[in-house]
Amino acid sequence: MKIAIMGFGTVGCGVEEILYKKRKSLIKNNFDIQIDKILIKNTDKQRFPHQKDLVFTDDFDEVLNSDVDTVIDVTSSLEETHERIVALMNAGKNIVTANKAVVSKYFEELNELAVKNDVYFSYEASVAGAIPVIHPIMEEIFFSDMNKIYGILNGTSNYILSKMETEGLSYDEVLKKAQDLGYAEADPTADVGGLDAMRKIRIVSSLIYNSKINEEDIFTFGISNVTKTDFEFAKNLGYSIRLLAKCALEANNINISVIPTFVADDFFAKTFEGTNAIKVWGENFNSYEFKGPGAGKLETADAIMRDLLRILAKREIKTFYDATNSFEVENNIKHKFYIRTTEVTDGLKNIIDREKTSGENHMIVTKKVSLDELTSAIEKFDQVFISEIEEEK
Ligand code: HSE
Repeated sequence: MKIAIMGFGTVGCGVEEILYKKRKSLIKNNFDIQIDKILIKNTDKQRFPHQKDLVFTDDFDEVLNSDVDTVIDVTSSLEETHERIVALMNAGKNIVTANKAVVSKYFEELNELAVKNDVYFSYEASVAGAIPVIHPIMEEIFFSDMNKIYGILNGTSNYILSKMETEGLSYDEVLKKAQDLGYAEADPTADVGGLDAMRKIRIVSSLIYNSKINEEDIFTFGISNVTKTDFEFAKNLGYSIRLLAKCALEANNINISVIPTFVADDFFAKTFEGTNAIKVWGENFNSYEFKGPGAGKLETADAIMRDLLRILAKREIKTFYDATNSFEVENNIKHKFYIRTTEVTDGLKNIIDREKTSGENHMIVTKKVSLDELTSAIEKFDQVFISEIEEEK
């Protein structure tokens, strides 16, 4: 079976490494997978693949016009990759992708194209790295309604927050380490700004509700201005801070957000370093949890390999997502929030439960309010950090 790979960065190298190292056992199990070609941007760059006779090309048409039936996409570009995936699907090629930006932005179109062209569209690697999340959810959907998913879906921000907690380091000191470990995106603002986690919760929430959830409707607040002061405040209340992605269906409204959250030590998603954690609530089982490496070279490549084997063994789940449901997005569930701000307006005063000041900073715990109410109270603020408080102690 011949495949092509688009991209040869961290994850692409991981896929090549696994295919090379496991070649004998794959062949023994009738998975004779050969890499026909690898699409790269710069043919002058020196590369060190395990398989020395690999063919590299910078000409997309060579992949499009090749006889491979499955293409693995491990690129990080958005529009160019989207166009290429569309062309490949229209040419009858299955797609296995780790590119969450493309999957999230074009989820409806790509699912529709997969059905139209009768090809597989596999994207397990786009959410939570090595942890099998998409396939268990896809199987569950047939017989059990799921109404809520919470979790840590970004390894980089979890690495930063947990190191700030355990080693008392500053934000800038740990961001560099997360990049060196291969967790962070080429442009880490997608990680620390919450965009990466937003894309992942958009994918899983659209899937479980079979409803299109627009990226721009998801409340997204990252960790780029978290400080040691916030950790100290949280610690005094018995909490630490993690970046959570959440969606919950209540009274026909979808509450959906990516937001820093004060979490206690026994909270299921209080994980460390790059570990992701996802909890799913469904009608047949109350809830279950997944935990594991959510980013990294071999970790993400592992999820790609599983998609590839499912396709080759013809036991991949065919796309069924068609967004036939329609729910309003409204963040109306009430919580307490922590706010650090240098300004306090009348709108904010109305929702304060208690407050501490230190220099120019006001550290506020709000009354129970909805995220929508909180947003309107702070929307004009420049310097602000917020956290939802998972449970009041
Ligand atoms: N940058 C991502 C993360 C990689 O940190 O989780 C995995 O999607």
